[in-house]
Amino acid sequence: MTVHFIGAGPGAADLLTLRGRDLIAACPVCLYAGSLVPEGVLAHCPPGARIVNTAPLSLDQIIAEIAAAHADGKDVARLHSGDLSIWSAMGEQLRRLRALQIPYSITPGVPAFSAAAAALETELTLPGLAQSVVLTRTPGRASAMPEGETLAAFAATGAVLAIHLSIHLLDKLIAELTPHYGADCPVAIVWRASWPDQRIMRATLGTLDAAVGPELERTALVLVGKTLGAEEFAESRLYAADYDRRYRPLGPAPRFPEAS
Ligand SMILES: C[S@@+](CC[C@H](N)C(=O)[O-])C[C@H]1O[C@@H](n2cnc3c(N)ncnc32)[C@H](O)[C@@H]1O
Repeated sequence: MTVHFIGAGPGAADLLTLRGRDLIAACPVCLYAGSLVPEGVLAHCPPGARIVNTAPLSLDQIIAEIAAAHADGKDVARLHSGDLSIWSAMGEQLRRLRALQIPYSITPGVPAFSAAAAALETELTLPGLAQSVVLTRTPGRASAMPEGETLAAFAATGAVLAIHLSIHLLDKLIAELTPHYGADCPVAIVWRASWPDQRIMRATLGTLDAAVGPELERTALVLVGKTLGAEEFAESRLYAADYDRRYRPLGPAPRFPEAS
């Protein structure tokens, strides 16, 4: 018996890995984390599967579900939205399973920030503008931020910020970020990236209307950084015609002669 943790993707049912789909189809028990896991993903469960929404359950109750499946020798598909490596609460479940000696596997998923970037038709890292993306959030009722992980500290680097779980705090985001990025820095908000009712708003820190946040659905990402919508940036050296590289050796004395 194994508990298969599976990243269920950002919303569109077909943004699920083939491995994830096949594992879901093979598990007689499926525990899924609330409304962010789309019904289309749950449709891969086999007929007669026990399908449980864990949103109203405590960690103890979730582990009790898994322990019961373990006792019955039934594999479990454990679905969380997006990818499992960020804000999935997988860590605490894995720790409990290790203590109980219940085997598990982990299958990654498409994170929301990737789906949002795709919706914006944007490469978040562009030469000369930004080469780092910070996946972050603001403090919530259930989750304090460690000291030092402030928006201002990240903003000071000039990296692109992908701010999760914070759409209700747009006024605070604007106030904290404007001194670092400037009022003309592009901002994009993507609500429910990849869902049929996806919405996009583009603005700058100076023009963004802080009132739009709470008005709409809470499942949204706020992206801030110079690369959003940029057209003025250098081309990458990697594909430059005069760039001598392992897969395209150039000239009489290439840097990687063994590849030629
Ligand atoms: C608990 S976190 C889960 C993140 C997820 N594990 C991931 O890999 O993206 C939920 C937050 O992720 C963001 N999010 C998740 N799905 C989204 C989507 N389809 N569109 C925009 N933001 C999304 C929102 O900021 C939301 O408040």
